[in-house]
Amino acid sequence: MKNDPVVAIAGVTGAVGAEFIATMDRRGFPVRKLKALASARSAGKTLSFRGESIAIEELTERSFEGVDIALFSAGGGTSRKFSPSAVRAGAVVIDNSSAFRMDPNVPLVIPEINGNRIREHKGIIAVPNCSAITALMPLWPIHRVNRIKRVIISTYQAASGGGAAAMQELVESTRASLNGQAFGPTVLPHPYAFNLFSHNTPIDPETGYNEEESKVIKETRKIFEDDRIAVGVTCVRVPVLRAHSEAITFECENPISENDVRAILSRAPGVRIVDDRVRNYFPMPIDASGQDDVLVGRIRRDLSDASGHSIAMFVSADQLLKGAALNAIQIAELLPQKVMA
Ligand SMILES: NC(=O)c1ccc[n+]([C@@H]2O[C@H](COP(=O)([O-])OP(=O)(O)OC[C@H]3O[C@@H](n4cnc5c(N)ncnc54)[C@H](OP(=O)(O)O)[C@@H]3O)[C@@H](O)[C@H]2O)c1
Repeated sequence: MKNDPVVAIAGVTGAVGAEFIATMDRRGFPVRKLKALASARSAGKTLSFRGESIAIEELTERSFEGVDIALFSAGGGTSRKFSPSAVRAGAVVIDNSSAFRMDPNVPLVIPEINGNRIREHKGIIAVPNCSAITALMPLWPIHRVNRIKRVIISTYQAASGGGAAAMQELVESTRASLNGQAFGPTVLPHPYAFNLFSHNTPIDPETGYNEEESKVIKETRKIFEDDRIAVGVTCVRVPVLRAHSEAITFECENPISENDVRAILSRAPGVRIVDDRVRNYFPMPIDASGQDDVLVGRIRRDLSDASGHSIAMFVSADQLLKGAALNAIQIAELLPQKVMA
């Protein structure tokens, strides 16, 4: 790996793809050359990167010659199909899809939690599910000092989690609704304006859990390296344009107070406490949008647990950033240390 790598982005025209570019720029990530890749639909269009106009190319198995880092954000099927050719060409793949997350040979990395796992990669490093990252960023520093035995998470997931087309559908369906016009959803399965619905990933008929919920459960155990942690999740899509929110209640092995949690989280990297009871001001997706930090507030005792082992809180985070592009670029920033060693 060079200090100024050649970087390819597969899925550059998508919601996450746009944030890869913005995040690399904002953080001054060194790039010798950028290869902009998307589907045949986008081939020939151009985008601007650091004052240069770059032509978008169709992603193929030959796209990765000379590429050092390949950032994938074009769906699981695309990652499965094209990552092997990127690895064969010598690139390190940082994959935002769910394709490889549970593969025991693929590190599943949130740099603030398990960045040390990056050095074990065999060509592919996976970025966890965005709802998992949002929950685990504030839970991990607590878990380290007072093991979390059980956590219940309820999500309020924004349109941006469904990509650029879902965001557009929310805007268009809201406009139609306000104008009294009918709108038939095409991207999401249900009317989105002034509505909410159970997450649109397939449901396992046996367990009743949808795929998003199963990802959060499995990925929490892999990242925390704790198979015993009990995780309950309900994932819901809400008509918010950008940034996911989550209500989280957790039970620790030892007693824990809200002041303990505040003290721990005030020192946690990537976490910002927003917890103003006087002004009734707590994390909101509108404040989390465009921000790197996971916002945490409503930190309070869970009164349903008289033993004093449980805390409830509310979290908002920009899942296009910490839940996807930022987390991937943070991984890329740690790569040269491994590869150049
Ligand atoms: N949105 C999030 O918050 C989020 C968070 C974490 C992970 N992810 C993951 O990131 C990926 C992309 O999400 P997104 O929200 O950015 O979706 P999106 O806005 O729908 O963008 C999809 C991107 O993938 C490209 N693409 C689709 N099929 C392709 C193909 N066969 N070959 C090459 N490129 C193809 C599209 O190119 P065209 O424009 O040419 O069609 C576009 O650039 C998904 O795997 C998603 O699960 C998303």
